[in-house]
Amino acid sequence: MTTLLKRFHYITALLSSSAILLFLYFQNSEVVLKYSYYSFVSERAQRTSHICLEDRGNSSWFSERYKPTVPILLNSTNSELHPNISSWWKELQDVPNVSNYTEVVDQLFSLFPDKEHYSDAGPDRCRTCAVVGNSGNLLGSNYGQQIDSNDFVIRINKGPTEDYEKDVGNKTTHRILYPESAVDLDDNTHLVLLPIKVLDLQWLISAFTTKNITQTYTKVPSTIKASKDKVMILHPEFIRYVHDNWAEGHGRYPSTGFLTLIFALHICDKVKVFGFGATSDRNWHHYYDETLTLFEYGSHGGDFENKTINQLHQENKILMYKGLT
Ligand SMILES: *[C@@H]1O[C@H](CO)[C@@H](O)[C@H](O)[C@H]1NC(C)=O
Ligand SMILES: *[C@@H]1O[C@H](CO)[C@@H](O)[C@H](O)[C@H]1NC(C)=O
Ligand SMILES: *[C@@H]1O[C@H](CO)[C@@H](O)[C@H](O)[C@H]1NC(C)=O
Ligand SMILES: *[C@@H]1O[C@H](CO)[C@@H](O)[C@H](O)[C@H]1NC(C)=O
Ligand SMILES: *[C@@H]1O[C@H](CO)[C@@H](O)[C@H](O)[C@H]1NC(C)=O
Ligand SMILES: *[C@@H]1O[C@H](CO)[C@@H](O)[C@H](O)[C@H]1NC(C)=O
Ligand SMILES: *[C@@H]1O[C@H](CO)[C@@H](O)[C@H](O)[C@H]1NC(C)=O
Ligand SMILES: *[C@@H]1O[C@H](CO)[C@@H](O)[C@H](O)[C@H]1NC(C)=O
Repeated sequence: MTTLLKRFHYITALLSSSAILLFLYFQNSEVVLKYSYYSFVSERAQRTSHICLEDRGNSSWFSERYKPTVPILLNSTNSELHPNISSWWKELQDVPNVSNYTEVVDQLFSLFPDKEHYSDAGPDRCRTCAVVGNSGNLLGSNYGQQIDSNDFVIRINKGPTEDYEKDVGNKTTHRILYPESAVDLDDNTHLVLLPIKVLDLQWLISAFTTKNITQTYTKVPSTIKASKDKVMILHPEFIRYVHDNWAEGHGRYPSTGFLTLIFALHICDKVKVFGFGATSDRNWHHYYDETLTLFEYGSHGGDFENKTINQLHQENKILMYKGLT
């Protein structure tokens, strides 16, 4: 019985190795050999780009919404706003004395990088990204290493890493913020401004120069620590596009978390989403404080955004990590 089994193993091993030889012979591509229990299995080394590419384009729901040509980040050549975009965007601002957008933008790009970012999409790019929201469902999740293993780690507003590394990681390549949610960044992090008003653009300039803007509709930091060469500004047309195509007009404008997620869909090939949604006890709080944010969603279409995010997950366009739910 045992000898029979041994012989059987021997034959299996022999067959598998000839299979491998044939495979090697007929394939020009790399082959990875893995030892699995009692025989070798071969598999084509999956070029990461293959993993990435399959994810897009096979869903009509997705294709109807995703617009690859939308301007994502503002620069001096794409800054002029279509009248529709301009009027919509300007209506969002509820501060008096709105300055001349064109004149403010002219100042912007004498200070900050003026170029096209992330235009390198293509079959050979496989950029993985973690979008890290601020939900309390991250507590105890142990996601830290998984988050840090991505090419980009995009964080939102004040969400800290210090003291929470085990659950949220310690790497930050991008942080999306606006004056009212600004915090200091380290030198490796891109400040990505979400501008809801012209004053936000002026604040950005002021924060790196005169430091004399200290007030919007509330008190804001006059300056922050951040690398000037890494500043990026979300394009107002992008905000409108997320509102129209992805939130389908729900709410006044999209929530920061939702915008960040769609931003990631555009600059990354694989998007993993952490720290979105309520905790298992249906509490909405930040992992870093006890403030109940019964939706950051006051002026946002929270339920619809939630529905869209779930759909993106179902269509395999993003991967949701739900924490301890
Ligand atoms: C689209 O492709 C992805 C990855 O290949 C797959 O997981 C998903 O189920 C596909 N969706 C549809 C609607 O076929
Ligand atoms: C501008 O708005 C009008 C009226 O709402 C609409 O018909 C038109 O398609 C819009 N154009 C663009 C480029 O969004
Ligand atoms: C804003 O406008 C009000 C009235 O229109 C004016 O009194 C005030 O001086 C203006 N403030 C600035 C900073 O321009
Ligand atoms: C804004 O400034 C530009 C350039 O100085 C000028 O051409 C334009 O008319 C101004 N717009 C408004 C609404 O004042
Ligand atoms: C600005 O971005 C657009 C894409 O939105 C790009 O076509 C253009 O070349 C960029 N301009 C500069 C100066 O990089
Ligand atoms: C982040 O944590 C890793 C270990 O998980 C450590 O090696 C690395 O030095 C840390 N980086 C920073 C910037 O703290
Ligand atoms: C800040 O300083 C600049 C340049 O000195 C000035 O033009 C601007 O009006 C000031 N803004 C405020 C809010 O004081
Ligand atoms: C978001 O959708 C998920 C899945 O349908 C649901 O379990 C969750 O309760 C929703 N969250 C909110 C706040 O509606």
